Amino acid sequence: MIKKLSSFVEKHRTPMFLRRILPRRIGQKLKLLKTRILENSFQEKGSAYPSIHLTKEQIERGEYMKHIGGEENEWEERGEFQFKLLKALGLQKNDSVLDYGCGPIRAGRYFIRFLNDRGYAGVDYNESFIEASKYIVSKDASLFNKNPFLDWFPNFDLEKLKTKFDFILLFSVLNHCSLEQRKTFFREIISAMKKNSKLIITHAHWFNENYLEKTLYVSKKISHIKEIENLLGGPIEGWKGIDGLDTPKLMLPIILLSKK
Ligand SMILES: C[S@@+](CC[C@H](N)C(=O)[O-])C[C@H]1O[C@@H](n2cnc3c(N)ncnc32)[C@H](O)[C@@H]1O
Repeated sequence: MIKKLSSFVEKHRTPMFLRRILPRRIGQKLKLLKTRILENSFQEKGSAYPSIHLTKEQIERGEYMKHIGGEENEWEERGEFQFKLLKALGLQKNDSVLDYGCGPIRAGRYFIRFLNDRGYAGVDYNESFIEASKYIVSKDASLFNKNPFLDWFPNFDLEKLKTKFDFILLFSVLNHCSLEQRKTFFREIISAMKKNSKLIITHAHWFNENYLEKTLYVSKKISHIKEIENLLGGPIEGWKGIDGLDTPKLMLPIILLSKK
């Protein structure tokens, strides 16, 4: 009986079969499940971020790209997307940006070029990504002339920054963190925020208001891809990912937080 059942499942386990035989509502639930499985696999990957070590040669060969979703193929689109998103949310040349969990400045390069001198700070708890960021900057005058601040932040040491930012972006960062890390972040980030700072967090499916400790409030929530496309004035490029599973939907919701 079990043998029969497993050969049946083996034979028919394609998504096409599931879509054909199951009613639409079950199909939708499966889609959601697929998204959750994908998110969880990213979380597992995320928890491995501190243990990724790259040699100088690997950095020079650009191997850091392999460790960030979308990899080489969508490096530019996904970097530029973050820049376009913040511009659409009001980013100006003379603003300051903290890119928390900046990775190897996939988006940072766009911010640095656009912002005034010393306008950009990128921090990450992966030391190799910070090394890679410094290498990338050192090779490009349009970047090193702008004196970006890049630093290894193993422990949410936000006081170390001794400055406050107009925009703080966490693009696919807190979804890779534990509950405790998220709580620490929301406690510490206040010291880097001005009265009108905008804190933008993507991939925030895990979020609930209990994190906010009466110091922050949700000033905007983007829950649908159409809202992003309307903001940007066109379709989102990239995010085809491996097997087309890594969809822009994973970015949602995107939340904007402000200081009370
Ligand atoms: C999916 S990558 C995104 C990188 C970058 N934001 C981008 O979009 O190109 C997640 C990044 O968050 C960093 N990260 C995760 N947890 C962190 C933490 N607790 N503190 C600092 N960085 C963290 C990882 O090292 C990694 O660079």
